[in-house]
Amino acid sequence: MQKSDGVMEKIVSLAKRRGFVYQGSEIYGGMAGMYDFGPYGVELLNNLKAAWWKEHVQIRDDFFGLDSAMFKDPRVWEASGHTSGFSDPLAECKKCNTRIRVDKELEKVGVKADEKMSEAELSKLFEEHKKNIPCPKCGSHDYTPVRAFNLLVKTNMGDFTGVNAEPVYLPGEACQGIYLNFKNVVDTTRAKVPFGIAQIGKAFRNEISPRNFLFRTREMEQADTQYFVKPNENKDAYERIKKDRFDWYVRLGIKPENLRWKQHDNLVFYAKDAWDIEYNFPTGFDELEGVHDRTDYDLTQHMKHSGTDLTYTDPYTAEKYIPWILETSVGMGRMFLAFFADAYTEDELGGEVRTVLKLSPKLAPIKAAVFPLLKNKPELVEKAREVYELFKKEVRTEWDDNGNIGKRYRRQDEIGTPFCITVDFDTLGETPEHKDTVTVRNRDTGEQERLSIADAIWKVRQAVS
Ligand code: GAP
Repeated sequence: MQKSDGVMEKIVSLAKRRGFVYQGSEIYGGMAGMYDFGPYGVELLNNLKAAWWKEHVQIRDDFFGLDSAMFKDPRVWEASGHTSGFSDPLAECKKCNTRIRVDKELEKVGVKADEKMSEAELSKLFEEHKKNIPCPKCGSHDYTPVRAFNLLVKTNMGDFTGVNAEPVYLPGEACQGIYLNFKNVVDTTRAKVPFGIAQIGKAFRNEISPRNFLFRTREMEQADTQYFVKPNENKDAYERIKKDRFDWYVRLGIKPENLRWKQHDNLVFYAKDAWDIEYNFPTGFDELEGVHDRTDYDLTQHMKHSGTDLTYTDPYTAEKYIPWILETSVGMGRMFLAFFADAYTEDELGGEVRTVLKLSPKLAPIKAAVFPLLKNKPELVEKAREVYELFKKEVRTEWDDNGNIGKRYRRQDEIGTPFCITVDFDTLGETPEHKDTVTVRNRDTGEQERLSIADAIWKVRQAVS
C-alpha cells in the first residue's frame, strides 16, 4: 500500500530544515547510509530511547539493563554465524559499476528469492529475470554474476602490523553483547529464568544499497530485548512479548492502521519462528521491528566457541539447562522515521494551512514554548523570562519572541511542541483576577485556556511524563 507521493521528500526536507536529521558528512558532499541527528532530532531520539527503556527496564522486575563494548573478540562473530552466514547477494552493473542487492530487486518484480538459495541458484534466478531489472543508475541490464557479500564491517583494531589474520569487526547486531554477558548478569544479580536483558547498542552493516532515509543505513542503533526462558516454555512468553511490542507503538501514538504483523517465510539461520512488526512507511509497509524465537542457538554457540559453561542452574530445582531466547530488535533510526512520518500532518487551523508534527507529548523534542505577547514591552519580556526560567527547570522548554504570535505557533507546530505558553498583560495584572496566569495553547486543536503559572507547569508535566 503506497502512501501519497512526495511524503518522504516532505519529511526529509522538514527533518533537514528544522534541524532533526542531517545527511552525514554533508559538507564533504554527504556519505551514503549515514545520518546525523540535529538539535531537535537528538531530543526526539533520546525521548524514544527513554520511553523504550522505561518500558523494558524501569517498570519491569524481571529485566536488567546493559551497555556492552562495541569491539568484541573476533570469535564472537564466528560463533554467531556472521562471518560465514551474514551476507547479501550482490551484482554489479557492468556499464556504470552500480551495485544492486539482487534479492530486493527481484522482489520488486514479484520474484521471491529463498534465503537458503546457493549463490549458483540465485545467479540462475537472476539471469532469468534481469531483463526486467534495469540498473537504477544507467538503465542497463548487463550485470556481473551474483556473489554473496558479507555485511560485517572490518576494523584494524589492535592490528599494528597490517597482516591481521583475525580482524576485529564492528558489531553486525547489537544483541551479541547480551549473550556474552548472560552469565555475568545471572552471577551478579537476582536474575532467575525467565528474565530479560535490555540494551540499546550500535550496529554496523555494509549495506549494499542504503536507502529510504533512516530506513536502511550502514550505521544504526538497535534497541534489543533478549528474554531467557526454560526450553520449550517459549510459546506463551513469545505471544505476550509480540503483543506488548505492538501495543507499545500504539500507546505512544502510532496509528494502529499503519501497523501490521508479518511472519517470516524464510527463517534466518538462528530462528525457530520470526515475526516482523511492519509500519506503513511513506514507501509502503515494511519491517519496523523483528520479534524472534532464537531457541538455545546463541548460548550454545558461545559455549562451544568460548569453552565457557553457560548452563543455567535453576536455584529451586537444581535443574540444569541452556535457556532459550526470545528477542525483540528495532533500529532506533527506523523507529524515529516511523514516529516522525506518523506524526507528520498537513491540516487547516483557523483558515490557515499548516504543517504540524502530532507527536505524543512524551516524545516531542520541546515540551513547551514560552512567549511574551509583544517583544517591545520590557515588562512583558521580563515576566515571560521569569516564567521561562520556571518551565525550563521542569521540562525541555524553548524561548521565542521572534515575529508575531501566529508565526511562533507555526514554528512550534512544525517541530511538534504540544504547548505554547503566552505571557500577556493579564499576566501582569491588567485584569486583577488574571494576575500571574498565562494562556496555554494546545498544538492539535489550537484551543487556548488560561491557567495560573503553577497549574500550567503541572499540566505540561502531566502530559509529558
Ligand atoms: N539481532 C537481530 C537482528 O539484528 P535484524 O532483523 O537484522 O535482526 C533488527 O535487525 C532490526 O534492526 C530491524 O527490524 C530494523 O529495525 C533494524 N535494522 C536492521 N538493519 C538495518 C539497517 N540497515 N538500517 C536501519 N535499521 C536496520
